[in-house]
Amino acid sequence: MSDPLRCVVLISGTGTLLQALLDAISAGAVAARVVGVGADREATGLAAARTRGVETFVLPLVRGGDRNAWDEELAQAVARFAPDLVISAGFMKLVGAAFLDRFAGRFINTHPALLPSFPGAHAVRDALRAGVKVTGCTVFAVDEGVDTGPIIAQTPVPVLPGDDEARLHERIKQEERRLLVDVVREWSQHHE
Ligand code: GRF
Repeated sequence: MSDPLRCVVLISGTGTLLQALLDAISAGAVAARVVGVGADREATGLAAARTRGVETFVLPLVRGGDRNAWDEELAQAVARFAPDLVISAGFMKLVGAAFLDRFAGRFINTHPALLPSFPGAHAVRDALRAGVKVTGCTVFAVDEGVDTGPIIAQTPVPVLPGDDEARLHERIKQEERRLLVDVVREWSQHHE
């Protein structure tokens, strides 16, 4: 039995995807270990890590700050955990070249739309405005673009009459939590 997959998760918000991964790991459903959780702000989701004794770090990007310096600091903060896999789960900052140089190929992101449709920070709102009947979620490998990396897995999610952004996003997140856990499980089964 090889060592569990060492994962670092990056968040910016409520961290329910992180919570789903931690729960799946605790239930023995994924041979992985979240060794660190990072955020660009004091995100409420950090509590999910802290209550489980998972080390966390917060690295704010101050307005007008040096973006490259922040990117390098983020890369170093993540590298300290010696991760096999870095997961952006609602991390609302784009990483730069320094970060990608170190983690490209083992850095995945989850997005609440069926990429390449509706990239960017307002995917759920954009899908609603477009009037699509089916949207969904995507887990992909991060590259230098905005939500443009190679797609790993997707799940369709119906848009229902009367949906507003919050209700549709929650329906998407129910599938997104399952999709992320499945991708991490798959990754853990194939990592050397
Ligand atoms: C997810 O839908 C993710 O795709 C998007 O933000 C949401 C994060 O949700 N970028 P949570 O913070 O894990 O609850």
